[in-house]
Amino acid sequence: MYPIATVTVLIGAPGAGKSTVARSLAADGIAVLSLDEARAIRGEHEGDQRATPAAFAYVAQHLHENLAAARPVAIDGTGARRRDRVRWLRLAGEHGAPATALVVWAPLDVCLERNAARPEHRHVPEHVVTRMWNTIDGLGDDELVDEGFSRVDRVTTALAQDLGDDAE
Ligand SMILES: Nc1ncnc2c1ncn2[C@@H]1O[C@H](COP(=O)(O)OP(=O)(O)OP(=O)(O)O)[C@@H](O)[C@H]1O
Ligand SMILES: [Mg+2]
Repeated sequence: MYPIATVTVLIGAPGAGKSTVARSLAADGIAVLSLDEARAIRGEHEGDQRATPAAFAYVAQHLHENLAAARPVAIDGTGARRRDRVRWLRLAGEHGAPATALVVWAPLDVCLERNAARPEHRHVPEHVVTRMWNTIDGLGDDELVDEGFSRVDRVTTALAQDLGDDAE
């Protein structure tokens, strides 16, 4: 069905809307691998940071399996760290799969509001949200292409709805 598997790496601050975007990718038949879900599977809950190394290993294994079966995959994580992006790019490269960076953006105050509206165990400290937001905001297309992405797409999550919608 899919002659060439592609890897989409989501990049966005906490609360930017990555998992919402990922759901629409899943509806298109793309296998979504979520780092938060992997933390819940390998650790105690979605926000269990101690489970991060195990969660990355879990996602890497499933990425490998999907690409081996030529199934397109999207990775739902913040993607804020270069070394994490490079890890997915390397795995994609091993399968000859082109990778797309999908940068998901919302204004910082919207990300902070969404973060504050979440259950306690999913709260990310505000300074961490702010730092990641700034890091990602500074990521240019050229830098992502230099890392190895074949293309860079950017999506902004809708402002009018965002501002009045605290629902998870
Ligand atoms: N386009 C949108 N319009 C309105 N609300 C949105 C939109 N995108 C996301 N939201 C809302 O914002 C909140 C956070 O979205 P989401 O869970 O997708 O963020 P995330 O980037 O996956 O965050 P995290 O990094 O913490 O997993 C949710 O309550 C979601 O319903
Ligand atoms: Mg999410």
